[in-house]
Amino acid sequence: MSTIKISDGIIKDDVLVVGVATKSGKGALHIESGDLALDTKALIATLNDMGATGKQDEVVRIPGTSTRLIVFTGLGKAQSIYSDETLRRAAGAAARHLAGNSSATFSLPANTPAAVKAVAEGAGLGSYLFDQFRGSTKSIQKSPLNTITIHSALVSGAEAKAVAAHAEVISKYTNLVRDLINTPPSHLNPASFCAMVSDAVKAAGGAAIGLKVSTMTDSQLKSKGFGGIIGVGQGSANPPRLFHISYTPKGVKAKKKYAYVGKGITFDTGGLALKPALGMEAMKSDMSGAAAVCAAAIALAVLKVPVAIDAWAPLAENMVSDHATRPSDIITIYGGKTVEVINPDAEGRLVLADALVKAQEAGDLDAIIDVATLTGHQVVALGKRTSAVMTNNEEFSAHFMDITKISGESFWPMPLPIDLRPSLDSPVADLGNMGERMGGMLVAGLFLKEFVADELPWVHLDIAGPAYNEAEPHGYTPVGGTGVAFRSLVEMGIAAAR
Ligand code: BES
Ligand code: MN
Ligand code: ZN
Repeated sequence: MSTIKISDGIIKDDVLVVGVATKSGKGALHIESGDLALDTKALIATLNDMGATGKQDEVVRIPGTSTRLIVFTGLGKAQSIYSDETLRRAAGAAARHLAGNSSATFSLPANTPAAVKAVAEGAGLGSYLFDQFRGSTKSIQKSPLNTITIHSALVSGAEAKAVAAHAEVISKYTNLVRDLINTPPSHLNPASFCAMVSDAVKAAGGAAIGLKVSTMTDSQLKSKGFGGIIGVGQGSANPPRLFHISYTPKGVKAKKKYAYVGKGITFDTGGLALKPALGMEAMKSDMSGAAAVCAAAIALAVLKVPVAIDAWAPLAENMVSDHATRPSDIITIYGGKTVEVINPDAEGRLVLADALVKAQEAGDLDAIIDVATLTGHQVVALGKRTSAVMTNNEEFSAHFMDITKISGESFWPMPLPIDLRPSLDSPVADLGNMGERMGGMLVAGLFLKEFVADELPWVHLDIAGPAYNEAEPHGYTPVGGTGVAFRSLVEMGIAAAR
């Protein structure tokens, strides 16, 4: 994990990162180095010689004079004010290209404390490497940046410390989410997920910072009536779990209490509705929601945010065996609703239903958010980089959308049309787990809505596409687990405490 600091002192690192933008008109370049003065004329000549364009995600390195390297990261079209997310991505792209260097100073055009925070986050988020499972190729992997300095006079003293600490926590726990996603099902099953996250809770300070964890085992789940988690997990030799982290702030009263519920399918074969082999390996990411909600609870505790969080991770491995749930089996969700399992590949909604009901049991929540790699329809509708938001409360959903402007994560609101609801009716049970195929993302949302009290503000986040990047890395996003939704959950917690 990288150390992040903010300073306007003289530059000690041997790598300097600045921005380069495209000026309108004839494609001329414009160097954006924040409050650091550079001799731009000579640099622009060099950049032109090198064919630099200043477009986003372009990173150009040249030998420096006062630093060993100057790294130019593309900002796209020149602007008087760059969006925080543009800065976050530009810093991230540079950080990704700086693996193998130990430290770098970033001087980008950040004109507000929020922009400085975005640069610091981007630099931290771009500094990620997953090499735990490398053997003979481990030694040739380039280590990410160790020390990141954000050059800025805009924030100083305690504010600079707080912004740097926030960015460090954001990158550290995003990396936890990514690690959990990237860890293969040979090494991550429901029980080991609980163990890994419990270790992270302990390392963060555990009870001393207000964190408590508890795990329900398969036999406890069975006896208490968690038919969704049991039904999905019963085909696997690795038994299911319901993992819970509670965060209660220390020494202050929580302003609000939120429940975060994340889908935790450690591998989704599709069960007896077996998925095709092509692409099935990506289903190790089907616990991305669970990883995000757990990491968010820990991060909010580390940041001492005065909000109470209940994070729930219903964990199961959706496998094929003679114990697996059959199409037409009927299961009973915690609390008593029955579901006919039409399609064992629509398993996420079954484990989430149990957890949503459990999360509301105490009746003391101000809101509930679930996060899930729930449907392939999400990817068809919104692509690989924009997640979906569905809700029973337009005001709360609008608030969530506002918060994504701070986190920089791309979400888009989707409806829950009641005309699709009858397609979930079952001739034999309270509900079927699959309905109309067209609009399948919305049907899945409508299924979950059945398990949330009407008066409790709820958003459902379908992150199926954005959770896992199988294409090229970009901005601060690596290949593999991305950590998406985590930052928005943290910012939601911070906003709730205001
Ligand atoms: N985990 C998948 C959804 C998914 C697909 C996540 C692609 C990431 C990338 C989920 O459990 C699933 O299989 N959903 C089915 C639901 C259908 C059977 C109603 C789907 O989307 O096809
Ligand atoms: Mn599935
Ligand atoms: Zn799934």
